[in-house]
Amino acid sequence: MRNIIVGFLGCGNIGCGVWKLLNEFEQDLHHRSGVHFQVKRILVRDMKKKRDQAIPEELLTTQVEDITDDPEIEMVVEFMGGEIPAAQYMLRALEHGKTVVTANKMALALNWHLLQAAAEKHNAGLYYEAAVCGAIPVIRTTIDSLQANRIETMMGIINGTTNYILTRMSQEGSAYEDVLKDAQRLGLAEPDPTSDVEGFDAAYKISILSSLAFHARVPFDVVYREGISKVDAVDIAYGKELGYTLKLLAIAKRDGNVIDARVHPTFIPHEHPLSSVNGSFNAVFLHGHACQDMMLFGCGAGSAPTASAVVSDMIYAASREKPHHPTFKNENRLADGLEVTNNWRCSFYLRFTASDKPGVMAHITACLGNEGISIRNLMQREAVDGHAQIVLITHEAGECAVWKALRAIDQNDAKVEAMIRVEGK
Ligand code: HSE
Repeated sequence: MRNIIVGFLGCGNIGCGVWKLLNEFEQDLHHRSGVHFQVKRILVRDMKKKRDQAIPEELLTTQVEDITDDPEIEMVVEFMGGEIPAAQYMLRALEHGKTVVTANKMALALNWHLLQAAAEKHNAGLYYEAAVCGAIPVIRTTIDSLQANRIETMMGIINGTTNYILTRMSQEGSAYEDVLKDAQRLGLAEPDPTSDVEGFDAAYKISILSSLAFHARVPFDVVYREGISKVDAVDIAYGKELGYTLKLLAIAKRDGNVIDARVHPTFIPHEHPLSSVNGSFNAVFLHGHACQDMMLFGCGAGSAPTASAVVSDMIYAASREKPHHPTFKNENRLADGLEVTNNWRCSFYLRFTASDKPGVMAHITACLGNEGISIRNLMQREAVDGHAQIVLITHEAGECAVWKALRAIDQNDAKVEAMIRVEGK
């Protein structure tokens, strides 16, 4: 049996989940991997804080060097969250030749180039399955099981908080603010929900996932990002009538050397596999040239599901003779030879408040027609106070052409109320 001495950076919800899993599942882990993990020290901010698990006080420390600089500690497991100081502590551990396992998408997405360079230089491992989609083995699937593929599309519901909010808005017709408050009360949204609801969390994750899928670094700052805080329940209802479900999708596509990477509210047809992913569940739908369509589904957050991925990484790291590193050049910029486009093509859902008088519909269709945009579905709802709601879905069109048409349409008689991208066949 191999004994591996471990240090934890942080001991909140996820840290306690990992502690619990390592202890409760110890016999099985031994039996399956031949490894015993011995947690020697745990970095905490507050030694006196009450924790879910009975952790011996002598393991706790407030000095990171007790972990990063201890020659006996072989593996450092990070679940502090946030970028700084987590990234600095991981870097220090790697520089001391320790393998790092992290659940921290933000620190990884923003500092991956530094962390990987340090890991390679010091022959240390760097593993991050838990950083994207919690328990779902999407990282390992992408780097190990799909090696024989050129992955062309990844579309994911990779933020549970926003999926919970949109699911309830869709099922109940409730307003965004009301569901958000409920989600906060239930602990499904943070007191400051910005990272989730404005799409930052999903953008960190798609930056990591798409880099692995495309074997080329797609940095966080090239990911287009639009959150759900401006979503109006009325559009979810109109979309539903037209056969679509609204999701916050993280999308990465590659066509030759041109990629697009984006996070935004997206309508998908009810028949699309992602459409039935409800509540706080996550799923990643991908298409590879050989594997064709595939979807991975599961729990994207929470103490036990995240611990499942962390412990699996610990075993993966412990059972390798040499660390596994991605083979692409990992710099903090878009890979050489790749180009990012903001002029992606998809269908569009558009809603206008229009004066109910002759010529207004003609104005809308003419502006779309001038940009070569063709209408697939069109619906007009009864006039209220002399105004009608006009809702339409276009055939596939370019993003820039749609914006140009919307600028031309928007005037007193036809006000643009919503533009939502539509994906999936
Ligand atoms: N806040 C994230 C979510 C969980 O809602 O999915 C961890 O990334």
